[in-house]
Amino acid sequence: MVSQNFENVTLIEHPVINRDLTILRDVSTKTAEFRGALKRIAVILAYHALKDLPQKTFEIETPIEKTTGYDIDQDVMVVPILRAGLGLSDSLLQFIPNAKVGHLGMYRDEETHEPVDYYSNIPDGVEKDMVLVVDPMLATGGSADDALSFLKEQGAQHLRFVSLICAPEGLQRLEEKHPDVHTITAAIDKKLNDDAFIVPGLGDAGDRYFGTT
Ligand code: PRP
Repeated sequence: MVSQNFENVTLIEHPVINRDLTILRDVSTKTAEFRGALKRIAVILAYHALKDLPQKTFEIETPIEKTTGYDIDQDVMVVPILRAGLGLSDSLLQFIPNAKVGHLGMYRDEETHEPVDYYSNIPDGVEKDMVLVVDPMLATGGSADDALSFLKEQGAQHLRFVSLICAPEGLQRLEEKHPDVHTITAAIDKKLNDDAFIVPGLGDAGDRYFGTT
């Protein structure tokens, strides 16, 4: 029985997300409109994923008087899971322009539904950074599970997973395998179908974002 209650998940509800998710789900949506909707939702996801970052204070001077200034007191690394994760990462970089970016290349085997790794490039500093792993789709959870395990092997200690649409099956897998990792998402859909696609979902995010179908 797949759980429907997840402790480690922030589900963001917002009218803009509802409208843009509808655009993303609609099979008739063309590439340009798909990219626009994904990027708008990604900004909201980024805002929530970053909202409890530690801050440091210091004194600044306005034209009027001295006051307290703030800066983020944590280095951030964004790690998109290729390809589809690239559609989310730019929005995080808008907020944290000096964030490092690591890349993990993996695709899901169509027969076995298991992830196949084909590339990794993780910058130095992963041990101490807040590492935001981004991928629009969490289906079986195999790709995210592999990505998080790999980053932990590299020393990552502060991990978050940012996703657009999650299946309950994938969330359950992450809660079992990575209870220390918080997930931020815009939708928890019904289930997976026999081909391990999210239902109702939006199809293959990477193909639709890059126009490869
Ligand atoms: C999709 C998606 C995730 C993965 C989710 O990638 O973007 O990475 O599948 O499935 P899982 O939770 O069952 O592992 P895909 O293999 O289609 O590669 P792509 O991003 O290059 O299109």
